[in-house]
Amino acid sequence: MRTLLITGGAGFIGSNFIHYYLAKHRDCRLINLDKLTYAGNLENLQGIDGDPRYHFIHGDICDKDIVENIFRETEPEWAVNFAAESHVDRSIKEPETFIKTNVFGTFNLLDISRHHWGNVDGFKEHVKFLQVSTDEVYGSLGPTGFFTEETPLDPHSPYSASKAGADLLVKSYFDTYGMPVNITRCSNNYGPYQFPEKLIPLMINNALEKKSLPVYGDGMNIRDWLYVEDHCQAIDMVLRYGTPGEVYNIGGHNERPNIQIVRTILAYLHEHVDQSIDEGLIKFVEDRKGHDRRYGIDPAKIRRELGWQPETTFEDGIIKTIRWYLDNKKWLNSVTSGEYQQYYRRMYGSN
Ligand code: NAD
Ligand code: TYD
Repeated sequence: MRTLLITGGAGFIGSNFIHYYLAKHRDCRLINLDKLTYAGNLENLQGIDGDPRYHFIHGDICDKDIVENIFRETEPEWAVNFAAESHVDRSIKEPETFIKTNVFGTFNLLDISRHHWGNVDGFKEHVKFLQVSTDEVYGSLGPTGFFTEETPLDPHSPYSASKAGADLLVKSYFDTYGMPVNITRCSNNYGPYQFPEKLIPLMINNALEKKSLPVYGDGMNIRDWLYVEDHCQAIDMVLRYGTPGEVYNIGGHNERPNIQIVRTILAYLHEHVDQSIDEGLIKFVEDRKGHDRRYGIDPAKIRRELGWQPETTFEDGIIKTIRWYLDNKKWLNSVTSGEYQQYYRRMYGSN
C-alpha cells in the first residue's frame, strides 16, 4: 500500500485530485495537510471524510514541526504539493503570503522530504516529490506559438514569480541531491469546487445574482482551459510513470478569449435558468496590472512519453461545471458569504 502526502488538498484542484485518486486506486493512504485558508474548504471533501484510506491534518506547509511529524508518523512515499496561494489578483494586492507559502512552504516540504527520504546511498526507492505548477511561470505569448518545457521562465505577477521560484527550488533538489522530483505545469483549470474569485465560477455566480460581469480590459486575453479531472489524471500518470527530474506541461489545446467564455456561460444560463440573464450584464472594467495576454500549452511531451490526453471537451466540461454550480447553491452561498464579500468590494468596488 502506498502512502501519499497531499498538501493543499482542501482547495479546488487538490480536493478534485483526492476524489479522483480514491475512486481510481483501492490500495492507498492519503494524508491531506491543509491550512484551510479562505480557499480551503472541508466541504469540498464531504463524502470521503469517513473513508479509512483518508486522513486530514490541519496545518501550514511552512511549519517544520508539523511537516516533520507527518513524515515521521506516516512515512509517505510520494508528496504532491498543491498548497499555494493561487489567485493573481490577490498577489497583486498582497504579495507577501504568496512568497511565504509558495516559496518558503515548498522549500520546507522539499527539505524535510530530503532528510526523511535520503540515506547514504541516495534516496529510498520509489519516493517522489511532485510540484504542481502552472504555465504562468512561462510568462505571456504573442498571437502564435506555444509554451514547451524548454520555454524560458518569465513570470510577470507576484503569483507566477513565486511559483517560478518554487519550481527552481524543486529543480535544484534534483540537480544537487538527486532527489526524485517532477514538476507539472498545467494551463487554467475549471470544474467543481473552484473558488468564485477565478473567472469561470465568478461569472457564473455573478450572473445568477444578476450582478455585472467584470471583464478586464478588452476581454481578448486568451487562456487555455482544461477540465480539472483531466489535470488530476495527468498528475496521477506523472506520479507513476514520470521520469525523475523532468517537467511535464499539461494542457489540451483549448484556447479561448475571456469574453468568449463569459458569453458561453451567459448563453447557457439564459437558455436553461432565466431569460433575463443576458449579455447586458457584461461590464468592461479596468485591466489587471501586468495582465498576461495569452497562454497556450504544447502538451506533446506528456502525450508522447506518458500517453496522456484529455478526455473532456470544453463544450461538455463547461456544461458539467455550470450544472455543478447550479446543483450546489448551498456550497456557493457558503463560500461567497463572509470574507468573500469584503474581498469582492475591495477588488471590484460596488459593481
Ligand atoms: P486553491 O487556491 O483553490 O487551493 C489552495 C489550497 O492550498 C487551499 O486548500 C488552501 O487552504 C491551501 N493552502 C494555502 N496555503 C497553505 C499553507 N501555507 N499550508 C497548507 N495549505 C495551504 O488553488 P488551486 O486552484 O486548487 O491550485 C492548486 C495548485 O495548482 C496551486 O499550486 C496552483 O498554483 C496550481 N495550479 C492551479 C491552476 C488553476 O487553474 N487553478 C492551474 C495550474 C496550476
Ligand atoms: P483567473 O481565473 O484569475 O486566472 P489566471 O489569471 O490565473 O489566468 O483569470 C482568467 C482570465 O480572466 C484572466 O485573463 C483575467 C480574466 N478575468 C476577468 O476578466 N475578470 C475577472 O473578474 C477575473 C477574476 C478574471
